[in-house]
Amino acid sequence: MQNVLGPQQPVNKDWWRLSAEGLPKINTVPPGPKSQEMHASTARFMKGLSSQVKLFPVSFEEGYGVMLKDVDGNEYLDFSSGIYVTSLGHCHPKISDAVAYWAKKLMNAHDFTTPVKEKLMEKMADVLPPGLNAIQMYSDGTSAVEAAIRAARAITNKHEFIAGFRDFHGKSMAAVSCAQMIRGDVHSYGPTRAPGFYMVPKPDPYRPLWTKADGTIDTDKYISFYEQFIQEGTVGNLAAFVFEPAQGWGGSIFPPDDFYPKVKKLCEKYKVLFYDDEVLAGMGRTGEYLCMNHWDVVPDIITLGKSFGNGFPVTAMVIKEEYAEALEKISASSSYGGNPMACAAALASIEVIEEEDILENVRTVGAAAMKRMEKMKEEHPIIGDVKGKGFLLGIELVKDKNTKEPFDEAGKLVYQKAFKKGLAWIPAGHILRMSPPLIMDEKHVMLGLDMIEDAITEVEKEFGYQ
Ligand SMILES: Cc1ncc(COP(=O)(O)O)c(C=O)c1O
Repeated sequence: MQNVLGPQQPVNKDWWRLSAEGLPKINTVPPGPKSQEMHASTARFMKGLSSQVKLFPVSFEEGYGVMLKDVDGNEYLDFSSGIYVTSLGHCHPKISDAVAYWAKKLMNAHDFTTPVKEKLMEKMADVLPPGLNAIQMYSDGTSAVEAAIRAARAITNKHEFIAGFRDFHGKSMAAVSCAQMIRGDVHSYGPTRAPGFYMVPKPDPYRPLWTKADGTIDTDKYISFYEQFIQEGTVGNLAAFVFEPAQGWGGSIFPPDDFYPKVKKLCEKYKVLFYDDEVLAGMGRTGEYLCMNHWDVVPDIITLGKSFGNGFPVTAMVIKEEYAEALEKISASSSYGGNPMACAAALASIEVIEEEDILENVRTVGAAAMKRMEKMKEEHPIIGDVKGKGFLLGIELVKDKNTKEPFDEAGKLVYQKAFKKGLAWIPAGHILRMSPPLIMDEKHVMLGLDMIEDAITEVEKEFGYQ
């Protein structure tokens, strides 16, 4: 059949299974000699590498479905989706074909309308909450975040923003101003955040700052602190609260269910916008198109990225239609935003989510993973907490379950050991972060957890816990 995505061949839902058979396949202890040589050669020029690469300098040459292959021929089970990006599997045939079709037909037409853009806009309006349908497209998450901040200013004519401790929004000046600034490994720009940007504590159920008499987390106290902060800490020009719906970099941390409905109410009371940065948690990762859908809260502004184009650099800022005029004021377009290849990748990705019933898979397999992780927590002295929804999962390692002292050294070792066993994944200090491709079935998710559990057991032995 011929459509705006080109002459698409029907794709069987099981397209990735053959390449997943027998994973992991480790022939040479990774990182192997070719990997190391290639990495060393590249690293002569390529600087500023992430801690992930520094801790495990492997070189990849191929990816298909849930499999990643390195240059020594080792095949890994993917438990990171790139970095929450290739969520529908590496090189999904429908998405790759759609991008290739436009790569040969029309690569860029600035922000003129194209047939594939028309269809994407309709599809986005269809899957996003009602009213969220004023869209502009970008080519990385940070640019979408910057645009969202500029849009919030234009909508409100105000310039102050409140963001949450341990949330992350990208690495431009405005984005880092909405995050912790002293992370040696990420950014330490100094001397201070941009004027008008403030940070407040966000509820972490495992490490609550404010609790009720029974010791459980008290979200009312967080909200009343925010209210006091608006009154005492701002100059009365608050444009928006900027929150990640669930923390990705921070360690797959979800606030209690009553938190966002209360934040939204506070925003309404003070006529402040609620900006929900869904770059990492959106587009199916937690079993909903938007993570915020779990709490039935409709934000005023969202940003989408990562999973949105399954690896093609395509992102979006979406605001409520009633505020659409603000986008006229901020000169919202960019050189690459909404190019035909990008639109094709995003449209094909949403169609795959629908056609392959991805949200249902994420919900059921994610629930099974949580159950397994709960059991691991009971059995392992260094697992303090397990957390997550869908395929956004975390295991928090502590030196002692009573003191909850973070166990960073163990986190690094578990990462390296599981990688050596054939698990391609992401470290984050003492919280192990897992973001498998959303197509993954229960068998392979359990296989990934087996490798992690074995690595944890080995580390516990090394540190004298067993
Ligand atoms: C929640 C969130 N927002 C924004 C960004 C920035 O996206 P990008 O790296 O594509 O610029 C990230 C990246 O990790 C993120 O996790």
